[in-house]
Amino acid sequence: MLSEFLLSEMNRLGANDALPLHRQLYEALRRAMLDGKLGAGERLPSSRDLAQDLQLSRNTVVAAINQLSVEGYLASRVGSGTYVNDSVPRISPGRNGQRTAGWASAVPPGRLSARGLALTSRFCATDLEVQPFTPGIADFSAFPLTLWQRLQNKHWRMTYPDMLDYNTSGGYAPLRRAIADYLRVFRSVHLEADQVIVTTGTQQSLELCARLLADHGDTVWVEDPAYWGAAKAFMASGLAIHPVPVDDQGICPDMGDDTYPPKLIYVTPSHQYPTGAVMSLPRRHQLLANARRHGAWVLEDDYDSEYRFSGPPISSLEGLDTDGRVLYMGTFSKVMYPGLKLGYLVVPKTLVDAFKQAHYDLNRPGQMPVQAALAEFIEMGHFASALRRARQNYAERRQCLLEALKPVLSDARVGPSISGAEQGLHLCLRLPAHTDDKALAQRIAQQGLTVRALSAYCLQRSDLKGLVIGYGYAPLADIRRCGPLLAAAVQRELDAAAA
Ligand SMILES: Cc1ncc(COP(=O)(O)O)c(C=O)c1O
Repeated sequence: MLSEFLLSEMNRLGANDALPLHRQLYEALRRAMLDGKLGAGERLPSSRDLAQDLQLSRNTVVAAINQLSVEGYLASRVGSGTYVNDSVPRISPGRNGQRTAGWASAVPPGRLSARGLALTSRFCATDLEVQPFTPGIADFSAFPLTLWQRLQNKHWRMTYPDMLDYNTSGGYAPLRRAIADYLRVFRSVHLEADQVIVTTGTQQSLELCARLLADHGDTVWVEDPAYWGAAKAFMASGLAIHPVPVDDQGICPDMGDDTYPPKLIYVTPSHQYPTGAVMSLPRRHQLLANARRHGAWVLEDDYDSEYRFSGPPISSLEGLDTDGRVLYMGTFSKVMYPGLKLGYLVVPKTLVDAFKQAHYDLNRPGQMPVQAALAEFIEMGHFASALRRARQNYAERRQCLLEALKPVLSDARVGPSISGAEQGLHLCLRLPAHTDDKALAQRIAQQGLTVRALSAYCLQRSDLKGLVIGYGYAPLADIRRCGPLLAAAVQRELDAAAA
């Protein structure tokens, strides 16, 4: 019955569209869930049975199931199979042919599209409460606000009418020059200022890349575990996400499945988000060779490289690229403040005109007076001083957190370890694979602290457990006070696991 429905849906999709088979099956399964043919909580036939019934290869079936799991439609239960998630609403045909959600008899207003459901089914904004240890959040209290206000006032006073229009040239020229100078010296990026496109941040940079360099249904290889912001930008552009595992040397490009050749490969090589792994040199070369073999673009998200506390500086992946396939992106969210909404994308010379034009057509960029103030902030050395002060602050907080976690690390029974503490605003405390890290994060939240379960960032794998812990946001005194509470909660979990 189910296979008949899937086959007829696939026939329909295959006839009208040049969609690859795994994508047809993905669409057919999604339709089956939304139409209630596969209800919430229902178990999916095994991939082997589905492959046999539909006369497809097992790889094709597994790819479709993986994509639906990544998007939150399906969930695997260890040892018992794959189930339709409880959060998938049923949208069944109503009496007059119109579709209705669940058992309601009328079409509810404002219902989300299937894409909207996928985008909101995992990791939504309500999870993002900011308290001590929230990862990825900087401390804005130390930011030189008065100086910044003065600069902004000055540039608003000097503003001429053109500065109030949309911008067609990729951003305010002196800011693009300042960014290029910084990236050349500190990140070994090969670029000229004209290659810099000022965006409203990494999210917009990713959206531009997804829309201009890939088509609906194309595959993007994404690190597993992943930065959810990136995964969602790709989902919103209709790309198929293919998770590729990360280990302590970063993404393992040879574990990407060649059956799903990537159009894009998204990586955070300097400080993998969230594990903190630094991509090793051999892996960087392997990744670039793999990308070359597939004709894929590499998207390098260098989101927190300004904060490096120990070890040699890590150069950009772009610096190793010899054939112009890496697009490099950074953000001012971590050194200035996120609400500034400014970031940058460095594109190969051959793409500059297309990106500028599309950026104008799709985003109508502006904020020239703010960009002018930021250019002066950088040129006058204020950015470098703010960075120096922040780096020192975070280094102390990081050290204090490491001290607090020391007793936990000395627990030889299960061998917890820390990764990614050399850079950025968070570290990752790795816990044994049988730990319920989500429950642990919830228990810790009851004490007014926010840490994130490492497994919540996993797209497909189930072997990674741990806590992602931020040290940027809370002042040193709070880390001193709350660090031992955090360590004690982890210790209780380890004791329970060892009992
Ligand atoms: C991996 C990664 N990239 C990018 C960003 C944010 O960039 P933006 O604020 O410019 O969108 C974050 C924020 O935490 C991040 O973790």
